[in-house]
Amino acid sequence: MEVSGNREHLFIRACRQEPVERVPIWIMRQAGRYLPEYRAIRERYDFLTMCKTPEVVAEVTLQPIDIIGTDAAIIFSDILVIPEAMGMKLDVIESIGPVFEEPVRDADAIGRLNVDGLIDRLDYVMQAVRLTKERLNGRVPLIGFSGSPWTLAAYMIEGRGSKNFDIIKSLIYNDPAAAHRLLQMLADSVIEYLKAKIRSGCEAVQIFDTWASILSPSDLEEFSLRYIRYICEGLTGEGVPVIVFAKGVASFTSLAELRCDVLGVDWVREIGSVRQEVGGRKALQGNLDPAVLFAPKEKIRNEVRRVLESYGSGPGHIFNLGHGILPKTPVENAKYVVECVRELSLEARGAEGSATA
Ligand code: CP3
Repeated sequence: MEVSGNREHLFIRACRQEPVERVPIWIMRQAGRYLPEYRAIRERYDFLTMCKTPEVVAEVTLQPIDIIGTDAAIIFSDILVIPEAMGMKLDVIESIGPVFEEPVRDADAIGRLNVDGLIDRLDYVMQAVRLTKERLNGRVPLIGFSGSPWTLAAYMIEGRGSKNFDIIKSLIYNDPAAAHRLLQMLADSVIEYLKAKIRSGCEAVQIFDTWASILSPSDLEEFSLRYIRYICEGLTGEGVPVIVFAKGVASFTSLAELRCDVLGVDWVREIGSVRQEVGGRKALQGNLDPAVLFAPKEKIRNEVRRVLESYGSGPGHIFNLGHGILPKTPVENAKYVVECVRELSLEARGAEGSATA
């Protein structure tokens, strides 16, 4: 649809900072509970069964493409399938979220994690990627993803989401060697996992570092960024854009040095000021506050305009929310934000064209 001649899709070109007719948009967690069609399927299966059933994954991944019309699909899965495949029992409980009954809390438990044949145990993801690609039939590119080692370790050690993350922080301060052992094991696994997803057909990959936000700048460097850097280096030569989303970071200076193509931006910073800081070295993805989708239409439109204007002219912007779409978001508003980005960015490009004509 968006491919003209042999040109690559809009989303891929934007990742590479190549010229685009308009700004592409996709939405983090676009396949999820805000869609009645998702909830209908979710009623019939538990979450992990959904992730492990390629037919269901393909169906759910395509829902937002058909219903709200985003410019990229993201394979339906979860970051926690990696620890699950390492032998940790995972439950996704309605009111709590994901829970590991037996968190990994010391060097012995880390030593018991099973990484032999890990990618084989995740073959259901690769089957789902292949089936989804078939169903997409080239309409939009398919994004694969992984958690960052730090964010995965946070769940594995805490056992669930946490407010203060005191358990993982105690571990990194009291037994840094054990923490680094786990993080390195995860980094190697993430490289293999993302390579397998790319081989199976993913056309871009995103690394989610949701819990970057809880680290001081020096701890962020030691316990998260150095492993993300290692992963980006491990993925060079794969030929697909790599997106790094480190949520809640105060500075983009170190992120701008990574060997990746795109940086995700939450809504705490103005995307225009991040663009200046990054100095054209990366494309940027973001950064509308997900809660804006609860606002009246006029406010949504103004906020979309504000984000587009803050980024400014020139390529390298992928529109997205600053974090996942919230479960109570009205579907109508999700459709509307897609419409606004199409119209307003086209207008802006049109104006630019005539200004330079
Ligand atoms: O973006 C997409 O549409 C692809 C699917 C996707 C899911 N999880 C589906 C999901 C992606 C990319 C993720 C990533 C993920 N999972 C992250 C990183 C991004 C972020 O949002 O911070 C994290 C931290 C997780 C861990 C996780 N899984 C949490 C915290 C939760 C519960 C919170 C929630 O939204 O319910 C999950 C479960 C989960 N993963 C659901 C979905 C659609 C909800 C499960 C359900 O249907 O009950």
